[in-house]
Amino acid sequence: MSTRQPAIIVAGSINMDLVFCVDRFPVPGETVRSRRFVTVPGGKGANQAAAASLAGGSVSMIGRVGNDLFGSACLENLRSKGVDVSGIRIDPDAPTGNAMIAVDAAGQNELIYTPGANGKVIPQDAEQAVDAISRADMVILQFELPMQTVCGVVDLASRLGRKILINPAPAETPSPDLFQKVDYLIPNETEAELLTGINVTDPQSAMHAAEKLLQKGCRHVIVTLGSQGALVHDGTSATHVPARRIEVVDATAAGDTFIGAFSVALAEGKSLVEAARFGCAAATLSVGKLGAQTSIPTRREIESFLKD
Ligand code: RIB
Repeated sequence: MSTRQPAIIVAGSINMDLVFCVDRFPVPGETVRSRRFVTVPGGKGANQAAAASLAGGSVSMIGRVGNDLFGSACLENLRSKGVDVSGIRIDPDAPTGNAMIAVDAAGQNELIYTPGANGKVIPQDAEQAVDAISRADMVILQFELPMQTVCGVVDLASRLGRKILINPAPAETPSPDLFQKVDYLIPNETEAELLTGINVTDPQSAMHAAEKLLQKGCRHVIVTLGSQGALVHDGTSATHVPARRIEVVDATAAGDTFIGAFSVALAEGKSLVEAARFGCAAATLSVGKLGAQTSIPTRREIESFLKD
């Protein structure tokens, strides 16, 4: 097993989350009262970068924020979590991305997302970080950047012979040749269903979806299943990794936390299943707290949870 700190690059979104805690979600046309309102740094890319850094990775991020208060708060927060933000550009023309998130009494959420500066990230932003990418153990992307940018960064990382992890979120169908460059595809139930047409509700249906995704060319598929853990498929066999139950406060960023912790564990030399177990522990801990980057556990917290 490697003793070097894994080098992880995340090319992805950076948002400020506007979080409203409600007893239940409003129906169309209805007004409901929020019990609590907080602003929390989020964005799938930034959450994954923070999770990988707190899990022990040496993490650099590529992305954009606006020249505004949300942007500087997001950058400062990433720095405080140990993420190298030198690859993040301040876009002069677009606001920092944001998400309006309602969290209900059961900890489930509903999100509305505005890309803002995330929508301005271009493949050339990554080319400026080519040295860092060429040293990376893992390059992680999601679908909150323009698809053309995702494809451009994947092509660059692939030419440099790097391992590529894609979280196809929010659910969107990419061009079929993207799958062939993906070492680790990590969808949740909804994303797996959009990509395969299979209704994913449990480990069995997740296994069928994973088989279909492997046929498209991905080398490994991990379907995250919320409180049911994750289904890991290495191209030959599938393993269900269960999750421990805890009281759910807010499920926001649980999948992002899984991805950050999983990628570090894998780059350290753990097996796919062990890395998924580490990721599940991190994700489970994250649902016990409100908010995206406010809920991500440290490596010490993950290891002590796994020992309990
Ligand atoms: O995955 C959770 C994230 O999705 C939130 O932090 C929000 O910003 C959206 O990007």
